Amino acid sequence: MKHLISIDDIGPDDRAALFQVADKLIHPTTILKKDMGGKILANVFYEPSTRTSTSFHSAMIKLGGQVIAINEINYSSVAKGENIEDTIKTIGCYSDLIVLRTKNAGDAAKAAEVSSVPIINAGDGNGEHPTQTLLDLYTIYKTKKTLQGLNIVFAGDIDNSRTIHSLAKVVDKNNKVVYCDTYSDLSPHLPTADVLYMTRVQRERGSEGTYQFTKQHAKVINKECIIMHPFPRNEELPQWVDSLPNSVYFKQIQNGLYIRMALLLTYKGEY
Ligand code: NCD
Repeated sequence: MKHLISIDDIGPDDRAALFQVADKLIHPTTILKKDMGGKILANVFYEPSTRTSTSFHSAMIKLGGQVIAINEINYSSVAKGENIEDTIKTIGCYSDLIVLRTKNAGDAAKAAEVSSVPIINAGDGNGEHPTQTLLDLYTIYKTKKTLQGLNIVFAGDIDNSRTIHSLAKVVDKNNKVVYCDTYSDLSPHLPTADVLYMTRVQRERGSEGTYQFTKQHAKVINKECIIMHPFPRNEELPQWVDSLPNSVYFKQIQNGLYIRMALLLTYKGEY
């Protein structure tokens, strides 16, 4: 069974194949409505989510499948003290695939050990977020036309951002990667950056510090540098930045749909 717990679970060739399928899905005429017909996805979220849960939900519906959405896990038997293993074994009785977001790093792996259906890790605490990495890589590839030889600046919550943890694993071999935390100045890195990957400060995980993309940063940033952010954003990314040609984060969000559709299709053995 194919679980997706870490970005290491999907190698470069499989990622490239996935991107090709995503390319086709951008054009709605290629969507076969019944591809996931008869299949049920359980969307199980122990932590808040807007984009990850909604894009998986939308992807499944677009492919003709159905979704059991458990966004309020606290109203389930979890409130009665049920452990994650029992919850996952139970939900596996009623679904074909589980998308799982949990509070602690390692929870997704724990769930995969007992699950009778594939688990897709939608973020495990400050661990990993592999499907975000797939859409991040796809966005870099579509805009920069390469995934190698780039100057990539990770900014913000380096310690607790699972999106940085997963993405860094795959880009740090063939690119020049700089980590700029919430106490450091972004300015020196911006004139030569190809990708600025911003993240919010995860105060719910005890992170501290603050930083912000400023008008001064906009003046010095490489014209060709793309600005990415997994969202949600806070004060680090003011709304005026949206109008800069560098900003690709809404494209990134849109790409999440195509990538997750392509990923769901792999579970149906469509390619
Ligand atoms: C991120 C997450 O949940 O890890 N959001 C997302 O899935 N796009 C980032 C965050 O919470 O800051």
